[in-house]
Amino acid sequence: MENSSIIRIEKLVKRFPVGRSEFTALNNVNLTIDRGEFLGLVGPSGSGKTTLLNIIGSLDTPSEGVVTVLDNSIASLSHKQSSKLRNRHIGFIFQTYNLLPVYTVYENVEFALLLQKLSSNARKKAVTDALEWVGLTDKIKSKPAMLSGGECQRVAIARSMVKRPEIVLADEPTANLDSKNSHHILQTMKSLNKELNTTFIFATHDEKVMQYLNRKVSLEDGQIVKDELMKNSKN
Ligand SMILES: Nc1ncnc2c1ncn2[C@@H]1O[C@H](COP(=O)(O)OP(=O)(O)OP(=O)(O)O)[C@@H](O)[C@H]1O
Ligand SMILES: [Mg+2]
Repeated sequence: MENSSIIRIEKLVKRFPVGRSEFTALNNVNLTIDRGEFLGLVGPSGSGKTTLLNIIGSLDTPSEGVVTVLDNSIASLSHKQSSKLRNRHIGFIFQTYNLLPVYTVYENVEFALLLQKLSSNARKKAVTDALEWVGLTDKIKSKPAMLSGGECQRVAIARSMVKRPEIVLADEPTANLDSKNSHHILQTMKSLNKELNTTFIFATHDEKVMQYLNRKVSLEDGQIVKDELMKNSKN
């Protein structure tokens, strides 16, 4: 598959209203991301990592500048178009998993597919594959309360990947995990990155995540201060 740019960010500014004034969370950010990257946004708390992920994921819009994701200009999408972009092409992994407690592991992953018109056989195959990727085939009938934190995070990864999205956005995905589970999950994501050429973008403070990145983009006070290619990243 061709490694062309799938995300282009030009002169992005994001301001939030705070009382009667405004706070500038992102200030003139320029960044191009190619298909198949395994990229981390790093930097101190409050530097703008989550804000940037949310705009790339079309959960929020730019105040100024242009953000293009898979040829869609984020600022000009209607509500319906941005839902469609997220549904079809973007997987999200949040720090807090966001699993539905009354549903089983299987149903939590299947949930991500319910808006798509798939036959029940195709849906079953997709869910089974995704749970196999993360090594949870033996837990499909369990509910989240019966799982460890690492297992919940693996369900969240399976849910984000079940649609085989082109882009996965992961905000602090290892924040609640121990070292062993973090490495296991990162290896899973890295192999999906290689097998399916899925682009992964992380927001993270975690040194363990950084070892796996192909590219590390450092933010400070809403600006990119460093953009490094990592030569010896883990697999
Ligand atoms: N909705 C909002 N309204 C006002 N200010 C906001 C809003 N969202 C974020 N901010 C501010 O923008 C700045 C960047 O926030 P952001 O959440 O992107 O930081 P972060 O780099 O993800 O930090 P952390 O590592 O703590 O998650 C912070 O100062 C935050 O307070
Ligand atoms: Mg954050």
